Amino acid sequence: MEDRKEKLLTSNIALKLLLFGNVNKLEDLEKGENAWIRHSIYVGIGAARIASFMGLDKDYLMALGFIHDIGRKLDHSNHVILGYKILQELGFLEEAKISLTHSFIENDITLTCGMGPSDLKRKFIIENTDEATIYDNIIQLCDLFCMDSGFTTIERRLLDIYTRKEITKNSNRHYRETTRLKDKFEIMLGLPFYEVFPDALGLETLEEDRKKLLELFEVENKKLKLK
Ligand SMILES: [Fe+2]
Repeated sequence: MEDRKEKLLTSNIALKLLLFGNVNKLEDLEKGENAWIRHSIYVGIGAARIASFMGLDKDYLMALGFIHDIGRKLDHSNHVILGYKILQELGFLEEAKISLTHSFIENDITLTCGMGPSDLKRKFIIENTDEATIYDNIIQLCDLFCMDSGFTTIERRLLDIYTRKEITKNSNRHYRETTRLKDKFEIMLGLPFYEVFPDALGLETLEEDRKKLLELFEVENKKLKLK
């Protein structure tokens, strides 16, 4: 079999891939089922903003943001692996990895919002990923403060995910490591993270949200001890 020729993804191609089949006219973007597309657009914009502060390739990071959730075109619950396969098939061999790594802080399969993937998926993800790159880290972080309507704080986004979806025994560690990742960027950027995103919603309740998160973890911890 002939080797697939590796292609380089641009933001222009990535946006076309993201919209293809789902958004044919501007109004389609407003549809409820396309919330993940709006979120992906903000992840791309957020990633490009971080890149410009760090002197990285803005266009490439925007492209990675646009396509990180591309597997959702086929199936939400399996979007991580499906997205990887879609991008591999298209010849974006390097960029395909972002689909596998975006949900796991520092590419650690246990550091995710919920309980994480099944054993079979875990095996596939581990076999096809390497150590986290700066590109992985930027998309991982953007995924956790970009909503479908714009930027918010990591605290507000996690509070929303943990209360609306699920809180698990992993959640406290996931929050700590997400905060550690944000702190790592503050050192690299040389300024507070939210100075890069002063337009994030929830800045005025940041401290309150932090306290609410810690209270949630405490309640969850007590429940686990009682079991
Ligand atoms: Fe995402």
